Amino acid sequence: MEIILSPSLLAADFGKLAEQIKEAEKAGAKFLHLDVMDGIFVPNISFGLPVIEALRKYTDMVFDVHLMITEPERYIERFIDAGADIVTFHAEATEKIDECIEIIHNRKKKAGLAISPKTPADVVYPYLSKLDMVLCMTVEPGYGGQKYMPDMEPKIAAVREKAGKDMLLEVDGGIGAKNIMAPVNAGANVIVAGTAVFGGKISENVTEILKTCGQL
Ligand code: DX5
Ligand code: ZN
Repeated sequence: MEIILSPSLLAADFGKLAEQIKEAEKAGAKFLHLDVMDGIFVPNISFGLPVIEALRKYTDMVFDVHLMITEPERYIERFIDAGADIVTFHAEATEKIDECIEIIHNRKKKAGLAISPKTPADVVYPYLSKLDMVLCMTVEPGYGGQKYMPDMEPKIAAVREKAGKDMLLEVDGGIGAKNIMAPVNAGANVIVAGTAVFGGKISENVTEILKTCGQL
């Protein structure tokens, strides 16, 4: 199975973003994970539309935009205009899940539905036939550098079982070369890594992670 690495920009040096994403891309990362936080759905604020739009010019990586914002239906179109290829929003953040998926698909982009650790797997089941990706958080959303929660693995396995082999199943939080095989063995195939990629030498970190999961 192909495992895709999606480095999370949240852990990068914000003074050298373009340079750093180029390094991750050259080393073999195919997606770029962009964490948008509004200070309401999660306590933290990160970055938004202008940063994504500016970075679009520097890379052809797939922009994997993780919206941690309340009522994402208000902003989805604008994130697509800014350059998002995959738009993932939280099931806990909206009452309009079907509408969000529709907005994304009308613009021919991929739709992802995210669930936080306390949200059970079955919340995503009614939408699986329409979704391109499910994101199972392996930390509480809001901050990089937290500890991976192994107790999410049964949930990852349950989603994989229901969703079938073609679904993109992403995991996010606390993952690096040391523990990547745990969520992969549970059924994940898109792996977010922030600190494990941008904390230290980026190209070496990407190479090590991709080798560990048999992609190099
Ligand atoms: C947390 C974010 C993650 C975070 C991952 O809310 O969704 O994408 O940046 O960072 P690490 O890999 O450092 O846990
Ligand atoms: Zn994320």
